[in-house]
Amino acid sequence: MRIAMIGTGYVGLVSGACFSDFGHGVVCVDKDEGKIARLKQGKMPIYEPGLDVLVGSNVEAGRLSFTTDLVEGIAGADAIFIAVGTPTRRGDGFADLTYVYAAAAEIADALDGYTVVVNKSTVPVGTGAEVERIIRERRPDAAFDVASNPEFLREGAAIDDFKRPDRVVVGTSSPRAVEVMRELYRPLSLNEVPMVFTSRETAELTKYAANAFLATKITFINEVADICEKVGADVQQVARGIGLDGRIGAKFLHAGPGYGGSCFPKDTMALVHTAREAGAPFTIVQAVVDANAARKQAMADRIIAACNGVQGARISVLGLAFKPNTDDMRDAPSLDILPRLIEAGATIAAFDPESMDEARKHFGDTITYCDDAYATMAGADAVVILTEWNEFRALDLKRIGGLVKRRIMVDLRNVYQPSELIPHGFAYHSIGRASVAP
Ligand code: UGA
Repeated sequence: MRIAMIGTGYVGLVSGACFSDFGHGVVCVDKDEGKIARLKQGKMPIYEPGLDVLVGSNVEAGRLSFTTDLVEGIAGADAIFIAVGTPTRRGDGFADLTYVYAAAAEIADALDGYTVVVNKSTVPVGTGAEVERIIRERRPDAAFDVASNPEFLREGAAIDDFKRPDRVVVGTSSPRAVEVMRELYRPLSLNEVPMVFTSRETAELTKYAANAFLATKITFINEVADICEKVGADVQQVARGIGLDGRIGAKFLHAGPGYGGSCFPKDTMALVHTAREAGAPFTIVQAVVDANAARKQAMADRIIAACNGVQGARISVLGLAFKPNTDDMRDAPSLDILPRLIEAGATIAAFDPESMDEARKHFGDTITYCDDAYATMAGADAVVILTEWNEFRALDLKRIGGLVKRRIMVDLRNVYQPSELIPHGFAYHSIGRASVAP
């Protein structure tokens, strides 16, 4: 099959590379000339484990190519995926669909022969119908169907998530489009991946409902963590205790500083707006959005309290990305926490294994950038773990003791056990567990 992928962001690039690895011919199209030029040289625009190798091998095999020319890109395609960005619209929290509709118009003008136009971008209910209307209006003669095929991959585990998904959801009422989509995903049938064929509206809503549910689950355990701290319980034990119930499940019950990233914050807000507009207010998700925003602010207060005030203090910060294995800092807790600490009089020395370039764009010269974890700690009043990168999981605590000024650790990801820190003379503050001091 021949596929055109419009948009080479996270979803577009990973999906395009994986489809080509399945054996399909894929052309990735993007308006950003610099990005396409770099991709042609094998340079990835994002950090995603294994992506460079996957792209390289499929380009070499002649199954994957890149272009800025949409007409050239979609020529002869059986399926055209729209995987452009849908940022939050400034001011009202709605998803901004400008790029999706612009892509639809351009696709319309270049359609040639029966094609399935597939929305992979996360789009509100009704967007598929609007894409169909745009194309039909410009090209009453064209043979096409518009399907919805939301993507559920996670950054940092994107390739594995694409190739071994829990399910594939396809929304279309056209038997011909179903056939094309089945053929595209046929390689997954070996693993017996469930394919959910449904209406376009249902598929569109399924994506938002999935992300909103996961964001709710995280916020639930985060608030359980707050209660644990007050009553002397342990959130990790509670999470295990409830997660073993098959109806609840153990995943996404890790308490932390609040969810971030390019999806949960944006999609929860968009769903709240869609629900309100539809006259069915989604009060739980509104509460989740509010609680998560408040939580990120509260995390700075927690660090300040652990240090008994940070005026003139030097804080070592480990991790800036919103989660490990990505350089993405969109809505990362660090973006809320660090400015609050600086405002309270702290100086920050930080290290992240992948997001230092990204961090410079956000923090400029307001913080000091270090080359490794230990370099952040010289003379520090506290060591703060913000992102649970693997390399922060087995730090040399004895060495840290010799570097810092005060032995205080604030572990917002519960990477360590209190019992590990005590012998090294640290006061240890974590999430949903009692703070300990030597
Ligand atoms: C999320 C979903 O997990 C994907 O299924 C979805 O496809 C994607 O959004 C999307 O819509 O594109 P992602 O944003 O890459 O993926 O990251 P997650 O691994 O889901 O983490 C999101 C946030 O939740 C992070 O800030 C993470 O630290 C936090 N989190 C996650 C917790 O605080 N606790 C947990 O137990 C799990």
